[in-house]
Amino acid sequence: MRRAGRFNAQLMDFVRQHVRPGITTEEIDRLVYEYTVDHGHRPACLGYRGFPKSCCTSVNEVVCHGIPGPYVLREGDIINIDLTTIVDGWYADQSETFLVGEVSEEARRLVQCAFDCMWLGIEACRPGGRINDIGRAIQQHAQSQGFAVVQEYQGHGIGRQFHQPPDIPHFPRPRNTERLEPGVCFTIEPMINAGDWRTWLDRRDGWTVRTVDGKLSAQFEHTILLTEEGPEVLTLTQHGPQKGHRF
Ligand code: MF3
Ligand code: CO
Ligand code: CO
Repeated sequence: MRRAGRFNAQLMDFVRQHVRPGITTEEIDRLVYEYTVDHGHRPACLGYRGFPKSCCTSVNEVVCHGIPGPYVLREGDIINIDLTTIVDGWYADQSETFLVGEVSEEARRLVQCAFDCMWLGIEACRPGGRINDIGRAIQQHAQSQGFAVVQEYQGHGIGRQFHQPPDIPHFPRPRNTERLEPGVCFTIEPMINAGDWRTWLDRRDGWTVRTVDGKLSAQFEHTILLTEEGPEVLTLTQHGPQKGHRF
């Protein structure tokens, strides 16, 4: 899992350099595909439950699972790029939201909030602690900023499979007393909405998830290994935003 995380992080470092106005999401997808197979690995998204591309590109009001296509990024957009690689049978999953050129103050604040929510969730993980501690930390911060936490999509266990138990909700679930034991790998990937927390699935393509009110959504994701000492972030990138980063 450490090796998978390291490769996926390196892929994110590569992709990050190309995000700018004028590139299409399809071109980003091609970079992901080529870099991954050139290194002898496989993009997990490609063919996953029929998903047609090698990564998810979710622009502005798209919450998650956006399909790369002819859309041209333009100044003021925010785009989440979600990358998952299979390295020798092991999965690593991470995403970042990028500001394309200059963006509105609202967009910047939302991206900052999603990033801080992810780190607060990571820091809430303790061996033997409760899964609900993660969602409580995330929900509290999002609400304090006037934003809302998406409930329909959650973090997940990860390992030999893309998605496996346990579910990691980004808000506290009543009556969930499940604990996290050392040795477990899972993702924390809060989706934070500027307006309403609710989403709708676009049935035209079967994948794209949007906010119900058309307002912005932002997300960050890391794959975590919980050790006896605490959380170890397996997909931390050398060149990407570190904890405490200001957008
Ligand atoms: N990477 C997403 C996650 O964080 C899942 C994408 S599934 C796909 O769990 F099929 F849309 F690629
Ligand atoms: Co995930
Ligand atoms: Co992901």
